[in-house]
Parts: sequence; structure tokens; C-alpha cells
Amino acid sequence: MFPKSVYKTRRQLLAKDIESGIILMLGNSEAPANYQDNTYKFRQDSTFLYFFGIQDPDFAGVIDADKGEDIIFGNDVSIDDIIWMGPQKSVADKAAEVGVKKTKKLSDLSKYIKAAIKAGRKIHYIAPYRYQVKLFLSELLGIPVGALQRNSSVKLIKAAVSQRIVKDKYEIAEIDHACNIGYAMHYFVMQNCKPGVTEQSLAGMMDGIAMSNGAGVSFATILSQHGETLHNHDHSGIITKGNLLTVDAGAENNNNYCSDFTRTMPCSGKFTTKQKEIYQIVCDCNNLALKLAKPGVAYFDVHVAVYRLMAERLKALGLMKGDVEEAVVAGAPALFMPHGLGHNMGLDVHDMENYGEDYVGYGSAAKRSNKFGYRSLRMARKLVEGNVITDEPGIYFIPALIEKWKKEKTCAQFINFARLKEYYDFGGIRLEDDVLITKTGNRLLGAKRLPITVKEVEAAMKG
Ligand code: GLY
Ligand code: MN
Repeated sequence: MFPKSVYKTRRQLLAKDIESGIILMLGNSEAPANYQDNTYKFRQDSTFLYFFGIQDPDFAGVIDADKGEDIIFGNDVSIDDIIWMGPQKSVADKAAEVGVKKTKKLSDLSKYIKAAIKAGRKIHYIAPYRYQVKLFLSELLGIPVGALQRNSSVKLIKAAVSQRIVKDKYEIAEIDHACNIGYAMHYFVMQNCKPGVTEQSLAGMMDGIAMSNGAGVSFATILSQHGETLHNHDHSGIITKGNLLTVDAGAENNNNYCSDFTRTMPCSGKFTTKQKEIYQIVCDCNNLALKLAKPGVAYFDVHVAVYRLMAERLKALGLMKGDVEEAVVAGAPALFMPHGLGHNMGLDVHDMENYGEDYVGYGSAAKRSNKFGYRSLRMARKLVEGNVITDEPGIYFIPALIEKWKKEKTCAQFINFARLKEYYDFGGIRLEDDVLITKTGNRLLGAKRLPITVKEVEAAMKG
């Protein structure tokens, strides 16, 4: 938790941006996994966390933009709760820690909202993503669940994005910390990836490092020798010589800030020449993005520059052909990298994705492309100091996609389909770093960069 002045300032700024009405923020409740009392690990809603800071379930916050008043709604614990959960801070104490003086019982929220509606006041809210919260909000507002999305406040979304997309010094320190945990997770895998070891044991130990140093993983760990499947959560393989292992994972620290790294390593401990050729292209693309990313530059243009370098280098290898510039415009490199170069990161690994990706990654200045590959770019905005983004180029050989393009003659003038046959069992390579945009350029987040060059990765694997 940050000093209370941080939360107060955030709420004041939000109220000023919204101008008038009531901002309603519902925190999350416990979510049952298989019966009511056996729950998933609790995770507070990130918007509530950002503006009200309380990490516990069953809280709601209200910011009255007209009165300049903040209220926390929550229930003090009963003796039964104390028996099972131990002594708890009072709602008033928790509220005071984040600079809120006024508190009410959660059961009073309905009365409060109904009175506000009756008085004709605008209720600003961001559409919930959890079903339980949807039902609660629907009941509070007296509108059907199906209408919650279209009645949500675009003004509130835009105001929240404009604050959260620029990280302050407290947040940057938290993200650096989450990155240090992420470093330990990935370094562990590099040192323990050996033929015969199961993917499951590597993934489990990796997740354990996240749990023993913080809140856990920032998303379900991707660890697979089938890196050509972009988000592969299957860990049933056994590490086998000759394969590549792609590991995309991150940590969430105890203050709920995230990291997100990807590394790809040779299962034998040494890259083959063929693997090295592709790996070097991805590594150079990652470094190119670091060279280009700075205030004033649109991340969309960095994505395009990465596609251009990839096309040049794949052409030199004989896997692409034709005019590079035309290939980039046509979106031909998307056959190899069908995803975007990166996304915002903060309290969420894909920060604020629940607001709608376009509000976060595009804003009003940029328009999302509908072209394959380009359309998957989550962050296209002009960069500003304080942005935290990922830099995650990749090259994948996805047999089904290659066969589809071949059959449909998609970008046929730019792709050497005959040569690609030799890569159907190659897998995929992705290299992801977390980046803070600074006044004049950028810096990598975390104390140390994970091994990334061929030499560094092979040395780390030797132990
Ligand atoms: N690292 C997972 C993702 O960015 O989607
Ligand atoms: Mn990522």
C-alpha cells in the first residue's frame, strides 16, 4: 500500500476529470472454485486497488465528484469471522489508511445508489468482468446484466486510463520488484531445463518462486516445447534434446504489480545452427524496439519497424522474398509473428484490458488496423514518459497457418512456402522484456536483464 496521499490525489484527479456525478467502484468478492468456501486465491479488482488501495474482498468505493466526498462501503467482521480468520482491522481503519474518512455498511450501498438515481445523478462505472459483480451491479442500478456494458462510462474509462497509463515512482518501484521475482523464475528454468525433466516440474517450481516471493504468477504460466502455439498452457511434455523451450511467465508481487518475461532456450543447452539463425533475428528485433522506443514515438511504428527488420532478415535466410517494404505493408511478416509487439503492464499484466483494449492502447489519436497481425497489437499509442510496456517480438512456424496462407495464396509473392516445409517442426521463439519509457528513451525494468544473447542463454543453462 502507498501513502494515503497517493490514493487521495488519484481520486481527486479522477473527480476533476469526470466533472460531475458519482463514480462507483465495486471491489471483488471471493470466487468459489468448487464449492462456496473453497475459493480461488483472492484478487482485488485493479481499478478499485488503484483508487482505493484496499486488498480485501467485499468492499465498494464511491467518489462524489460534486461534493468532493469519498465513501468506502464494507462490513466489519463478526465474531464468527474472527473465529475462522483471526482479528481484522475495522472498515474505518482500512479506509483511513487510504485517506477516506466516511464509511458505511455494504448493505447501505443499495440505498445510497437508489437515492442518487432518484435524484437524477449520473452514476459512472466501468463494466465488470466477473459474473458475481455483474449481478450485484445490475441489482444496484436496476438495469439488466446485458445492458451494463453499453451503459458504462466512457468518460470514466478515459479518465482512469489517462492516470494509470503513466506510472509514478511508487508504481515503478513495485514493477521493478515484480520484475526481479520474474527474473528469479526464468533464471531457475534456464538452470534446470535438461533432457528428461518434465515441463510440469519446471512450471510448478517456477510458479512456486512467484508464490514464495509475492502474490503468485501474473497470469497462467506458458512453458512449452510447442512455442509455436502462442499461449500454450499444456505442460505435459518431457524436455527433449533438439527442441526449443519457450517460457512466458511473470510474477505479481504482494502489492499486485506485475512482470511478464519470455525467453526461449535450447533443451540440449546449445542452440543448433538453424535455431540460432532464427533466434538471432528475434533477439535483434527485441533490441531494435529498445533502440526506438522513446517519448513521441508511436509504438505502432516500432511494431512496423520490427516487422521490417524481420522481413529483411527472413528474406536473407530465403524464407521470405520480394520487396521488403511492400511485404511489410501487406502484413506478410504476420505469418511469422501474428501478435503485437507489446502491451501496457502495471497492476494487470495486460494493463486495464478490462476497460477495452482500444481505450488503453489506442486512445483517440490512433485507429486499430483490421489487418491480420497488425490488428493484434495491443499498444499502438504515442509513447510518453512513465509508460510501462512489453517488448515481445517472436517468430513462430505454425504449420496450420502456413498451409492456410499457401492454399489461399495469401502474400504468396512474399513467402517462400517451399522452404518453410523444413521448419514445420521448429516450434517458436519469443523474447520479451519489460520496459519503462523515460524522459529521453527507456530502461529495462528489474535490476538485471535476463540472459538474452545466444552466449548468455547457453552460459546460464550450463549453471
Ligand atoms: N505474456 C502473455 C501475454 O502477453 O499475452
Ligand atoms: Mn506479454
